[in-house]
Amino acid sequence: MVVTTPPLAGRDLLSIADLARSDIEAVLELAARTKAGDDLGRPLAGRNLALIFQRPSNRTRVSFEVAVTRLGGHPIAIHAQEIQIGERESVADVSRILDRYADGIVARLISHRDLLRMAQFSASPVINAMTDREHPCQVLADCLTVREATGRLAGARVCYVGDGNNVCTSWLYAAGLCGVDFRMVCPSGYEPQGDVLERAAAMAAASGGRLHVGHEAAPALEDAEIIYTDVWTSMGQEAEQQRRREDFARLQVNESLVTMAPPQARVMHCLPAHRGEEITDAVIDGPQSIVFDQAENRLWVQQALLALIFATLPRPATAATAALEARR
Ligand code: CP
Ligand code: NVA
Repeated sequence: MVVTTPPLAGRDLLSIADLARSDIEAVLELAARTKAGDDLGRPLAGRNLALIFQRPSNRTRVSFEVAVTRLGGHPIAIHAQEIQIGERESVADVSRILDRYADGIVARLISHRDLLRMAQFSASPVINAMTDREHPCQVLADCLTVREATGRLAGARVCYVGDGNNVCTSWLYAAGLCGVDFRMVCPSGYEPQGDVLERAAAMAAASGGRLHVGHEAAPALEDAEIIYTDVWTSMGQEAEQQRRREDFARLQVNESLVTMAPPQARVMHCLPAHRGEEITDAVIDGPQSIVFDQAENRLWVQQALLALIFATLPRPATAATAALEARR
């Protein structure tokens, strides 16, 4: 008998760049099949997952709680104030402790460096629920959404209009790995970091993808299939909000900007939106917007991701988890 181990089994997801193209395809395939009605069963039965949030969250926390529960597991949501990472206890100690109790950690941490440290001290898988540097679960859901909207990921023409932030970084890696034609438009000074661009460009050279960073929306949007934006001021950058409003004003995704793309282009935003800043009500609520389908896809993609990471790991057999299972 040939036993195949899913390539993601037991692994962390800290950066999209940790994945191979085939890993991304496996997650998207499983997510699409589940969305179409396939049953994933209860691969998390008897498992407890700790969900830590150092920043506010609606989509990520709720979709992970629902995903873990649907897969038969038990989510434990922890807010930053309770554990005060780095103040009451070091990141390393928080990680060591959670690793003794839970079977995995989903963490939204302010600093990506802290996330790497958390992963270093946890034997069980750690999943990035967003840091200052990346938002891989968001971009996996975005990839599924692009595939649904355009019929493909490789060769899809995606134009990201906005800041070279965490979401953009994860997108550059995903685009590089999966052969996307990705154009990033931002004001001067808001480009992604040089090391990110270099790494993504090397991936694109291998996959046949195209990456372009520029400052003018019109040429990048001319034949775009997807117009993507994110907030101009990410969480933690509030002190820069006024300056960013001024710097980004000409790149607002409004009805005029959308007409630079073909009429069948679809509009995406990871949400939460700062309506009236990076996107107008008319666009986000308009006929080309697919932002709520995109938000729904967080659930399908994370369910698939959890199923692939935890499916073949040995099941815990402690009295506590057995008792928890008996109560279900
Ligand atoms: N897109 C996203 O991650 O949303 P939340 O901040 O609400 O989790
Ligand atoms: N770039 C945004 C994404 C929110 C989901 C932030 O970091 O606040």
